[in-house]
Amino acid sequence: MLKVGVLVSGGGTNLQAILDAIDNGTVTNAKVCMVLSNNPKAYALERARKHGIPAECVSPKDFPDRAAFHAALLEKVDSYGLDLIVLAGFLVKVPEEMIRRYRNRIINIHPSLIPSFCGVGYYGLKVHEAALARGVKITGATVHFVDEGMDSGPILLQKAVEVHEGDTPERLQRRVMEEAEWKLLPMAIDLIANHKLEGSDGK
Ligand code: GRF
Repeated sequence: MLKVGVLVSGGGTNLQAILDAIDNGTVTNAKVCMVLSNNPKAYALERARKHGIPAECVSPKDFPDRAAFHAALLEKVDSYGLDLIVLAGFLVKVPEEMIRRYRNRIINIHPSLIPSFCGVGYYGLKVHEAALARGVKITGATVHFVDEGMDSGPILLQKAVEVHEGDTPERLQRRVMEEAEWKLLPMAIDLIANHKLEGSDGK
């Protein structure tokens, strides 16, 4: 059974998609053991609690500096003995020590087709604003392994989504979530949990 920790900052609809996919058997051999947020007000923590999953908060505001925050974050994550860390709308840059310790065991969902509209500054609605400003007709979502760069690790899965005439960033964001993100993230976990992914060490 793959022990999964999900790191979040916001509403947690991607977390919900993972929990639903495990509950309905779309994802097998995986269990969400903890949900952690940097933001105590993240609704994702409520979703975890409702599901009987430990909901942790490690906020940078509670620490004197970045190093102390990173150390606390890592200690909390380590305490669960996780096999896989899933970043599902986690708006904190992952500390390098965590990336080293969990090499090829951290995945992220990004709401565009990488390498378009990714990297520093491309998060949340900004990604969709940039896609609309550029006038692309197709966008989508990407699940990738996390390395030291920003959205630069190896790509696991991608799914394309059409941009419609008259789209606002909000409408496009919603379509990308419904048609791509909520499907891709559970699918990636299932692939890793069931050893269907070359190079992964799903247990
Ligand atoms: C998603 O669009 C994700 O791709 C991005 O942040 C958003 C998180 O939404 N990185 P939610 O918290 O899962 O609802």
